Amino acid sequence: MSQEQSVQLTVDGREVSVPAGSTIMEAVRKLGEIEVPHFCWHPGLSVAGVCRFCMVKIEGVPKLQIACNTEVREGMAVDTIAADVKEAHKWALEFHLINHPLDCPICDQAGECELQNYYMKVGKYTSQMDEDKVLKPKALDVGDTLVLDTERCILCSRCVRFEDEITKTSTLGIFNRGDRAVIGTFPDRRIQHNYSYNLADICPVGAFTAKDFRFQCRVWFLKESESICPGCSTGCNVKVFQNGNSREYFRLKPLENPEVNGHWMCDYGRTQFEHLNVKDRLVSPLGADNSALSWSDAAARFGELVKSQAGADNGKVALVLTPQHTNEEFSAIFSHLKSQLGREPEVFVWREATEERDSFDGILFRGDRNPNTRGLEDTLKELGVSAKECSGLKDVGLSQAQLAVVLGPEVERAYPSLETDLAVLREMPAVVYFGNHRSQAAAGLSLRVPTLVFTEKEGTYVNHAGLKQTLKANARVMPSLKSLTEFLGGA
Ligand code: SF4
Ligand code: SF4
Ligand code: FES
Repeated sequence: MSQEQSVQLTVDGREVSVPAGSTIMEAVRKLGEIEVPHFCWHPGLSVAGVCRFCMVKIEGVPKLQIACNTEVREGMAVDTIAADVKEAHKWALEFHLINHPLDCPICDQAGECELQNYYMKVGKYTSQMDEDKVLKPKALDVGDTLVLDTERCILCSRCVRFEDEITKTSTLGIFNRGDRAVIGTFPDRRIQHNYSYNLADICPVGAFTAKDFRFQCRVWFLKESESICPGCSTGCNVKVFQNGNSREYFRLKPLENPEVNGHWMCDYGRTQFEHLNVKDRLVSPLGADNSALSWSDAAARFGELVKSQAGADNGKVALVLTPQHTNEEFSAIFSHLKSQLGREPEVFVWREATEERDSFDGILFRGDRNPNTRGLEDTLKELGVSAKECSGLKDVGLSQAQLAVVLGPEVERAYPSLETDLAVLREMPAVVYFGNHRSQAAAGLSLRVPTLVFTEKEGTYVNHAGLKQTLKANARVMPSLKSLTEFLGGA
């Protein structure tokens, strides 16, 4: 039977059609309305079939079967809600809890723990287990980013499979047998790779927790929204977590997108919330003497600087763009300058001098640390502009421009030569710098204007493969900040 052929079956009386070779779990997932409780199954990993939680009843089959490792058959009738199925779920959970510590009040997974959630949905509530729990090592330092509590582990083996199948680092194993079985790292090994936080994501309980997030904020205070990671040209889809009251950002997690990142994201990408919070942000426009300006004064100052260069006889204007902004922003700033100057500015694309642009780690992470290289190329083509690409800003300094208008990098750590490049700008007659950091290196430029970050604006990025993806605007950490188009409208 070829993989293209599909199989029809029913789940709780609902019809569904899936490719031949699919499992009942995949059919249930496709239906979307029904949930079969599970721990060890994960859509991005191989099937282990070890937790025995996902029991279902199949018409004509005498015993209950696991949904994650049972292939569908034509005409199969699956029941996920029969009384004996529900009883099996309760008992599976009961056995998982035999040795699980009562850590919930002090566990940082509380609120998003699959064990806790399933207990509320399908728990037995009145436990019949009165043996002492087996104690195991807690709070182990297993890598730069993770803490491991082996007592909380339910031995689902997701983390072991992730290490074997995704990163191929094979750092983890399950050691010993029976109720002495314990998750751990092999001797002298630590979890050291650029995808380690995924282990905290896929661990269904609080066994793996992330060092940078644990005990920072209870998850029920966090508001979740969707975005695109600005860390490199892959453009992983992400969930961004912001405190609903303080607007502070706490973490990023992968958002499933089979076309881009599957279920994962890299550790470098996880740091892309650090520049979003107020402590690192430029909070108001600044003049050349570093004094704060009102938005209207800044817009007037920008208007004067541009108008002083208007007319065919006046000096050259350089528009310097980093591929870290949206297509719409590139277009808006170019069109604004063209209309105000009565001619086109000379356009430069500013790239980091030390970047290894074509490198790729074989999983997701790319050496092009800009989210919108392709989008900038496409936008310039649409505008009919031929830009000069420069490695660092030396060329801009040599261009004899009287005014440079610069869309600086949003993620400054992607530009390690930033200080050297800003020194070039400081030598120029007049510079208007759009950026979101307080960076001392930019002090003294004619005008600095704060910009919104990727979580605060709408717009488009195009990833390395040419896929157009849309940013959605989230609450601004400072409501007083303006978008580039709002600012240009007042200039
Ligand atoms: S540490 Fe978590 S992911 Fe790994 S086996 Fe235990 S419960 Fe599963
Ligand atoms: S691979 Fe690139 S886009 Fe994906 S999470 Fe990492 S830095 Fe972000
Ligand atoms: S999810 Fe099926 S056995 Fe674990």
